[in-house]
Amino acid sequence: MSRVIAIDGPSGSGKSSVARIVGARLGFLHVDSGALYRIVTWQCLERGVNVEAPASVAEFAAALAIECRPENGAVAFYVGGEPPGDRIRTPRIDAAAAKVASVKGVRDGITGFLRGMTAYGDLVVEGRDITTAVFPDSPARFYLTASAEARAARRRLQEVEKGVANQSSEAVKAALLARDRIDSTRRYAPLRKADGAVEIDSSDLTLEQVVDTVLASLPEGWR
Ligand code: C5P
Repeated sequence: MSRVIAIDGPSGSGKSSVARIVGARLGFLHVDSGALYRIVTWQCLERGVNVEAPASVAEFAAALAIECRPENGAVAFYVGGEPPGDRIRTPRIDAAAAKVASVKGVRDGITGFLRGMTAYGDLVVEGRDITTAVFPDSPARFYLTASAEARAARRRLQEVEKGVANQSSEAVKAALLARDRIDSTRRYAPLRKADGAVEIDSSDLTLEQVVDTVLASLPEGWR
């Protein structure tokens, strides 16, 4: 049986960095579930599918082939043989992804896809519903959070470093809060802290401190 470390939290809470480092330390494959919702969104926008029309989005997503394979410590995703790269990290996709992720058919497909990845071995999976809906029985579940200001500052820095955008801090914060609102109020698998998940507020912690807290909270024998 594969072991799964499940990490949820809002945008900019530090999930990806923490999941990547924890995975590398333990030899667990990192899985960025948000990338799958971003890929579906990106493909909808590329192919002219109306992201405001749930039935069209669900039908399109069901036919979309996303390939995955373990690579360099992570599960890597491909569409038509190509990695999506930073094309899925733009503000346009940020704005549309939460709408696409509200569609039940999309969520069901991605949930099944994520569960199937346990065939690759031990995983550290990050997202919005990993602790509540995808792997609710994992004994290692975490909810990362941080102030809106800290999250917006991190997200803005990532965008500038990747060269995908250079928005004002206020614009980044507004977009992030709008996305959080949709993610935490949607009908299916909304973002929330799962009962029993370990909550870590990273506003005033270094990345290393958050990683140490996660490692220290793992079940016996996982480290
Ligand atoms: O984590 P990231 O910001 O890349 O996720 C993009 C979007 O995908 C989120 O805003 C959310 O709407 C959706 N998502 C989700 N469930 C997950 C991961 C991401 O609904 N497990």
